[in-house]
Amino acid sequence: MNKVRQWKRLLQPYEQAVEELKVKFKAIRKEYRDMSEYSPIEFVTGRVKKISSIIEKSHRNGIDESLIEEQMEDIAGIRIMCQFQDDIYSVVNIIRNRDGKDLKIVYEKDYIRNEKTSGYKSYHMIIKYPVQTAYGEKEILAEIQIRTLAMNFWATIEHSLNYKYKQNMPERIKDRLKASAEAAAKLDLEMCEIRNEIIKAQLMFEEKSNVIRDIVDSIRVLHSSGEQEKALNFQEEFDEICNSGDQEALDNLLYEIKEVMPRYQLFKNNASEEA
Ligand code: GTP
Ligand code: MG
Repeated sequence: MNKVRQWKRLLQPYEQAVEELKVKFKAIRKEYRDMSEYSPIEFVTGRVKKISSIIEKSHRNGIDESLIEEQMEDIAGIRIMCQFQDDIYSVVNIIRNRDGKDLKIVYEKDYIRNEKTSGYKSYHMIIKYPVQTAYGEKEILAEIQIRTLAMNFWATIEHSLNYKYKQNMPERIKDRLKASAEAAAKLDLEMCEIRNEIIKAQLMFEEKSNVIRDIVDSIRVLHSSGEQEKALNFQEEFDEICNSGDQEALDNLLYEIKEVMPRYQLFKNNASEEA
């Protein structure tokens, strides 16, 4: 096999793992949101390490090419961003509860309680993750970094500066980065203080958009079930309430629609089964 094909074959399961893990963690967020509950996960990103970075890191750490997969823990990388510092530990627990199920935890590093000298903060979990490939099952290592939005902001900026200066970052900039890490930590602390207020406001917004979604869906079902008049009446009522933005009135309207809905829903389900 030539070099290019070798790399491709090596990286394929990592690409699949990153895709699968992203889907899984995004699904957790969606489940909470759909139930109008608070999600400790704000957003998820993932990447497979670039070949050039794998080679550079293996030289830097003296990793033999044949041992890259065993010793390089971050070829597959997942980042989970949280709004509040406390959420990080909720996410850690979600992952711990899956230990031995769809993944295995190899070890954890808490750079929040033990922040790095650079000022870096995040919670790291190294996991083993089985991937079903065309050539059979393959267990790969992956690194999950869990951090707040503020920690992520800092780490992203610091990473680009590190990249620019390599080992020669001027002291002046190092000091500034230290100071901004402290500012980011202070921001997280301040946000934690008003966490409940923020969550209440966000849930109210979420609840409202879920109710509006259900009303619009239901009116559509009524319409397609031949109940144009009912649909039109509800639509008019909805337009009126929507302008006032009254949550209680929205809840009541949804309740009213749901009262007349079941038989149309039934009709719709039967119709789609026959189709
Ligand atoms: P690496 O060789 O970089 O993987 O370090 P390591 O094996 O000692 O592990 P460590 O937990 O220190 O770092 C793993 C990853 O965390 C890195 O690849 C970065 O993504 C991130 N990280 C660690 N330290 C820093 C830091 O000081 N600044 C930034 N921006 N990211 C960091
Ligand atoms: Mg590492």
